This record gives sequence, C-alpha cells and structure tokens, in this order.
Amino acid sequence: MSIAFFDSGIGGLTVLREAVRRLPNEDFIFFADTLHVPYGPKTKEQVAGYVREAAERILRCDVKALVLACNTATSVAAAELRRSYPVPVIGMEPAVKPAVEMNGASGRRVLVLATELTLSQSKYIELVSRVDDHGIVDSLPMPEWVEYCERLNFDPDELGAYFRRKFEPFDLDEYGTLVLGCTHYPYYTQLLEDVLPPHIRVIDGSAGTVRRLTRILDEQGSLGGGSGKIRFMNSADDPAYNDKLRRAWRILNEPRG
Ligand code: DGL
Repeated sequence: MSIAFFDSGIGGLTVLREAVRRLPNEDFIFFADTLHVPYGPKTKEQVAGYVREAAERILRCDVKALVLACNTATSVAAAELRRSYPVPVIGMEPAVKPAVEMNGASGRRVLVLATELTLSQSKYIELVSRVDDHGIVDSLPMPEWVEYCERLNFDPDELGAYFRRKFEPFDLDEYGTLVLGCTHYPYYTQLLEDVLPPHIRVIDGSAGTVRRLTRILDEQGSLGGGSGKIRFMNSADDPAYNDKLRRAWRILNEPRG
C-alpha cells in the first residue's frame, strides 16, 4: 500500500521530498489537481469541491494514508475528509507556532506568506490567535507566486524583483522569521534567502507534517513495506503534466552548491 500526497500542482512535492528522506521504506502516489490549479484565488466552496473529487479518485488506489500537501486544501477540506473516509488524512499547517517560539525572546516579528484563501480561513485565524500571545505575527498573501512556480520560473532577477516589491511595505529588520505557508514556496527558499537580510530564517511546515504522518502510521502498525517508488498522477490524466512533475522533482532534488 502506498502513501498518497495531494496538491493543486507541483507544490506538494516539497513535502514529498521530506517524506522520501524520512521514510525510505514506503511507496508514494503524488496526485496534482492540474485541472484547477491555482487554488489560492478561488472560493472556499470551489476548492472544497475540487479536493473532494480528487480524494475520491486517489482513494480508489490502495492507499494507507492521504497527505494533503497543500495548506489551502487543508484549510477548507481536511475536517470534512476526515469525517468521510476511513484512511488517516494528514494536513499542512503554516509553521506559525515554531516561528513564534523562535522569536519570543528576541523581540523580532514573524511574517507568514501564504495564499489569500489560506490566510482568510478560520483555521489560520484561530491558529494565530492561539499561539501569538504578543501580537508579533503578520501575514502577507502572495497570489502570483504559485503561477511563477507552476511555470517552473526560477529566474533569480524576476523573482528577486517580485519579492522586493512584495516586502517593500515591511521593515525587514524587525522580522526574525518568514514562514512559508504554501507548499509551492520552498522551491524558492534559497532565492528568498538571497534577497532577505541575513538574520531572517525561512521555515516551512513540511517536517511537522511528515512527523505527524510517521507517528500515525506507526500507531496503526503500517509503517514500511515499500522501496521509495513514486507514481505521478494528475486530475487531467495529462502525461505532459506528469513529465512536469518529474522535472520539478529533479529540480527540487538537485544538489545545491
Ligand atoms: N500549494 C498550495 C498550498 O500549499 C496551493 C497553492 C494554490 O494552488 O494556490 O497552499
């Protein structure tokens, strides 16, 4: 049985990378909803419907867990999927809690970057009000970023200019941590670090999600039994998009100098 990973597009591969590192004795299915990417600008109802449709398809394969490797899908659909299906559904959560803990003593602020839909949902608003006792968390929607990523555009000049423009209203010296609250963004961690003041740490939620996945599989006694195989699928059954997933996977796993 495989572990299924789901995202609107190529973003969830950043979470799959962490899973493949931590769980080498598993097989994986990666399913991208290429028919409906990007999710960020759509309504809650639309995205919840897309995720439900995708989950139906994914769960027709023999899977032992479903990872929603997408913050936006998790915000609008995780609770309903957990009620509807017997397999464990593991979601993403922007790493706001660790970021607040990291900055508590330094007095620096936290900036959370995510899709507009994620940031507008009660799941995110409640998370921040639960962990942000001292009001140090700010949020910034980055609507164009997923599009750059889906075009596999990693041009440092173009993206560098985009980041500078978005960060212009912020005094970055006040910030200690940037939270990547969308799974498409970690493709750009290095590029971001190149434009940010050196004291800012960039973190994402992949490790936390894979820790939860591991714990749940361990508890149900279903860890192991695979050999690291990955099967790519997409909602349009488009072989060209599966090739793009393979290309993105290679880019993500290129050794960095
Ligand atoms: N990768 C997704 C996320 O983590 C969705 C991005 C999108 O489709 O807008 O939020």
